[in-house]
Amino acid sequence: MSNEPKIVQKAPYSLNLEMKKYWWCSCGESKNQPFCDGSHKTTPYTPLMFQINEPKQVWLCGCKRTKNQPFCDGTHKNL
Ligand code: FES
Repeated sequence: MSNEPKIVQKAPYSLNLEMKKYWWCSCGESKNQPFCDGSHKTTPYTPLMFQINEPKQVWLCGCKRTKNQPFCDGTHKNL
């Protein structure tokens, strides 16, 4: 297994999220992208919990290389 998280897609997930907590998949192995499904247990990575305080549209990183987890920061354009 590589030392880096798996690149799921070289683009963000555009989602309308409601007010609650979410767990963003940081390992890239989840089958429920961009959210955690427990698959990280076979990897060195852990999911990132984040809270949405008002319903809004977000762009969650799909390449798992962002420096602004869990949000896309444009890094995917250079992969
Ligand atoms: S999808 Fe990862 S930085 Fe944009």
